[in-house]
Amino acid sequence: MIANNVPLVKPSLQRESDKREFVFTLADFEQIRKLIYEHAGILLSSTKQDMVYSRLARRLRERGLKTFSEYLAILKQSDKAEWEEFVNSLTTNLTSFFREPHHFPILGEYLKKLHGKPSIKIWCCASSTGEEPYSIAMTVVETFNNFNVPVSIFASDLDTKVLATASKGVYAPDRVDRLPRERLSRFFVKTAGSSDGSFSVRPELRRLINFQRLNLLEPNWGVHGPLDVIFCRNIMIYFDKPTQYKILKRFVPLMDRNGLLFAGHSESFLYASDLFHLQGKTVYELANKGMVR
Ligand SMILES: C[S@@+](CC[C@H](N)C(=O)[O-])C[C@H]1O[C@@H](n2cnc3c(N)ncnc32)[C@H](O)[C@@H]1O
Repeated sequence: MIANNVPLVKPSLQRESDKREFVFTLADFEQIRKLIYEHAGILLSSTKQDMVYSRLARRLRERGLKTFSEYLAILKQSDKAEWEEFVNSLTTNLTSFFREPHHFPILGEYLKKLHGKPSIKIWCCASSTGEEPYSIAMTVVETFNNFNVPVSIFASDLDTKVLATASKGVYAPDRVDRLPRERLSRFFVKTAGSSDGSFSVRPELRRLINFQRLNLLEPNWGVHGPLDVIFCRNIMIYFDKPTQYKILKRFVPLMDRNGLLFAGHSESFLYASDLFHLQGKTVYELANKGMVR
């Protein structure tokens, strides 16, 4: 049996971990797994020790600590700022403009059907660095051929760092290089005074989106329906099924009866068929439309 306070090493990695700057035990790892699961719903598998070490090592360095147990003691004192850093360090924020592109023509067609509605509401609940909500906003403008549309996009994420990037709307050239030229010139401008050739989202597009921190695990979201669309892509994969189901259940009363829920390519909500039905490729609609407004 392995004692819980021994440094965390697989025999084959012994030499590698001997070089580690900070003491990191199996007990530390288990505690970190528990904390991030309880706080954010993020389920880290037992193989993620190296990832956890490398993502949090920067925090220990910054705070002048030598061991992960010292770091955990700071978290236990409910240091709010450090908790924010802790969570930000452990989220995975991979995203891109028009990721999973088949969703955007579906969104466009659906929006066309809503033409004339006085207010259209869209929630993007894991917006990361902003590429997803801006792709939604571009689809809205392209569909109605107008920036002045009665559409509001609420974009939220747990991670405050990515949210700040999203809100700024400034992207390095390699983030936008796969956008067609027309989109790039219609929705972005070269960032004034930047030496790295970055692009800024045009203010008229930015105005369609309201960015805010929101933890899907918290009991009060402060989100008001009816929502026409929810984008909840590539986030449920980090949660276990009971957590996913609880969130899906909370989506139901927030949605318009004909609303659409977009999921990520590896996420399936077929097990929640009492709540949502598959309508198209990873696009869901309410299972029981009679239950909502
Ligand atoms: C992989 S990104 C997905 C980004 C985007 N939806 C996409 O598909 O390209 C997952 C995002 O979920 C966010 N996240 C993780 N746990 C969360 C929670 N409990 N509440 C809200 N957002 C969370 C992370 O911060 C991260 O930005």
